[in-house]
Amino acid sequence: MGETNSGSKSSRWCLQGMTALVTGGSKGIGNAIVEELAQLGATVHTCARNEAELNDSLNQWTTKGYRVTGSVCDVASRVNRQELIARVSSQFNGKLNILVNNVGTNIKKQTVDFTEEDFSFLINTNLESAYHISQLAHPLLKASEAASIVFISSVAGEVSVNIGSIYGATKGAINQLTRNLACEWAKDNIRTNCVGPGPIKTPLGDTVFKDAKVLNSFISRTALGRLGEAEEVSSLVAFLCLPAASYITGQTIYVDGGFIVNALG
Ligand SMILES: NC(=O)c1ccc[n+]([C@@H]2O[C@H](COP(=O)([O-])OP(=O)(O)OC[C@H]3O[C@@H](n4cnc5c(N)ncnc54)[C@H](OP(=O)(O)O)[C@@H]3O)[C@@H](O)[C@H]2O)c1
Repeated sequence: MGETNSGSKSSRWCLQGMTALVTGGSKGIGNAIVEELAQLGATVHTCARNEAELNDSLNQWTTKGYRVTGSVCDVASRVNRQELIARVSSQFNGKLNILVNNVGTNIKKQTVDFTEEDFSFLINTNLESAYHISQLAHPLLKASEAASIVFISSVAGEVSVNIGSIYGATKGAINQLTRNLACEWAKDNIRTNCVGPGPIKTPLGDTVFKDAKVLNSFISRTALGRLGEAEEVSSLVAFLCLPAASYITGQTIYVDGGFIVNALG
């Protein structure tokens, strides 16, 4: 049933002929994921809100010879999500092999200070968008007959890192959504996994790590003693999408330099 790991050595480690949608690909981790998947041979569509930054990334990928397209989309908008999947469906003839739900953001406050608007914004951007995009993409993923969803959560979904309780709650929910979809959609040949980054150098990470005290507390807890690079996350995301990972589903794997396991850091 479905995809297996029994192909030739080269086809097990290649995404040639596959189609992918990566949300939030103009910067940071999403940008590295688009590039990694394209390097392995996939044709990729991505999206972001800022058109100029998106076009800048698209031009760089074109120069490198990668097959990447993009569209402006705010994944917090239900209508934008429907338009995004309609575009992907028409571009990829109704079939999608890979969906990476990467978009996520944060507001750092104490729990007693969060407003109703903060709550709706973070739940919508980090959780509802990924849930709804997965629902909308389901027929396309099923039609491909060998599909893979990767959610991007965070160490904050597993342990408390004092960067905001709503963020942590959305990421914990993504971990559980991963397990549910892995079981529910296995019959449709869709594997579902989750990658949880630790502290990674990106524009979003920079907003947290610009505070030297916060930076030091993260680094001292990280066993490898440094921040991670976006490319150290994208390599695992790509692996999970490969035919070589055909028996892996329902897992959340942390790329965190040993942050979570380092209880005495
Ligand atoms: N960096 C870290 O240390 C870290 C750690 C753990 C988990 N993560 C997770 O990793 C994922 C990526 O984070 P990052 O650090 O790479 O973030 P980032 O540097 O802020 O980049 C986010 C990307 O998503 C796009 N984006 C943001 N909101 C969007 C929206 N509403 N609709 C469409 N696109 C949107 C951004 O472009 P526009 O702004 O133009 O829309 C950008 O391309 C997130 O889920 C985050 O929670 C990051």
